Amino acid sequence: MEKNITVILGDGIGPEVTRQAVKILEAIASHYHYHFHFRYALMGADAIDKTGSPLPDETIEACLNSDAILFGAIGHPKYDNDPAAKVRPEQGLLKLRKSLQLFANIRPVTHYPSLQHLSPLKAALLEGVDMVIYRELTGGIYFGEKTISEDGQQASDNCVYSISEIERIAHLAFQAARNRRKKVTLVDKANVLETSRLWRKAVKAIGEQYPDVTLDFLFVDNAAMQLILNPRQFDVVLTENMFGDILSDEASVLAGSLGLLPSASVGNGGALFEPIHGSYHDAAGKDIANPLGAILSAAMLLDHFGAHEAASKVRMAVQWTLENGFVTKDIDPVNFYFTSTIGELIADVVQDKIPLELH
Ligand code: IPM
Ligand code: MN
Repeated sequence: MEKNITVILGDGIGPEVTRQAVKILEAIASHYHYHFHFRYALMGADAIDKTGSPLPDETIEACLNSDAILFGAIGHPKYDNDPAAKVRPEQGLLKLRKSLQLFANIRPVTHYPSLQHLSPLKAALLEGVDMVIYRELTGGIYFGEKTISEDGQQASDNCVYSISEIERIAHLAFQAARNRRKKVTLVDKANVLETSRLWRKAVKAIGEQYPDVTLDFLFVDNAAMQLILNPRQFDVVLTENMFGDILSDEASVLAGSLGLLPSASVGNGGALFEPIHGSYHDAAGKDIANPLGAILSAAMLLDHFGAHEAASKVRMAVQWTLENGFVTKDIDPVNFYFTSTIGELIADVVQDKIPLELH
């Protein structure tokens, strides 16, 4: 296998966690005799500092010419606290998602028994939690027209969806459900929003093509509550852009740490893999951030390449670190290991330099 991978380190803890993911992909390449060519590109606050643009043309070009993109994190506090900023790091990521038509953001939420104590929820609620969120990523309120009145007294964000934008991600969600517990839950606000009523209509119709999959509907306010009250009920959660953004951070509480959750963004050809966490500047440069979200994103990248055995080896190696207490500070603030050490251990396990024994 020969593949070109564009690596975007990004901001804050992005570089240090992404370097671990690259380390794992290099270890996998050497173990399975794959050829991965890594090319580095800029995006986010880092790109603004160096080029003035959050997404330089060379980055789009590099991404268009690669088989996959591995990305770290985006954002900087200096922009968060400046509502008047003209350019923002996040614009880079949004523009990249749109340019590559990465319309489906896939966020699996796995429960690790060895991390049960980290969740504020009772162990009995968490056992067997296994869901995947299909978040629409290139439409909705994120991309609708934005206005601010001349006197600065009024602003608006328009939420727009077309049937075809809904249908294409709905198909992916139903197909995923077929290989899982065969249930799709559409989360919307159809009692209030016109776009949500369009989602219900379109998803219902698509559902008829998948009679083996159960489709049910939840309003987003209720879904937010159900995620905490009874998370096991969820298999595939299908939802629009902003609801998916919010619910996936909430769902990370079920896993135990936001640092654990990976994601894949796919669409018409391109594919981007990134942990769901942000740039977490307070931890940047300290070698303490959790690299597992980035490493598990690399596992999703391997799945995308069809390298399923390698992907599952990475996941088992991750589980091995968790079971053996090789964890970062977010998981154990007293006995913790450095970001880079976790990366090295997982690289050794995937190459059989350390035997992989799981409980
Ligand atoms: C995410 C992030 C992004 C989003 C931001 C950084 C634009 O929160 O990937 O979940 O809102 O989509
Ligand atoms: Mn988010």
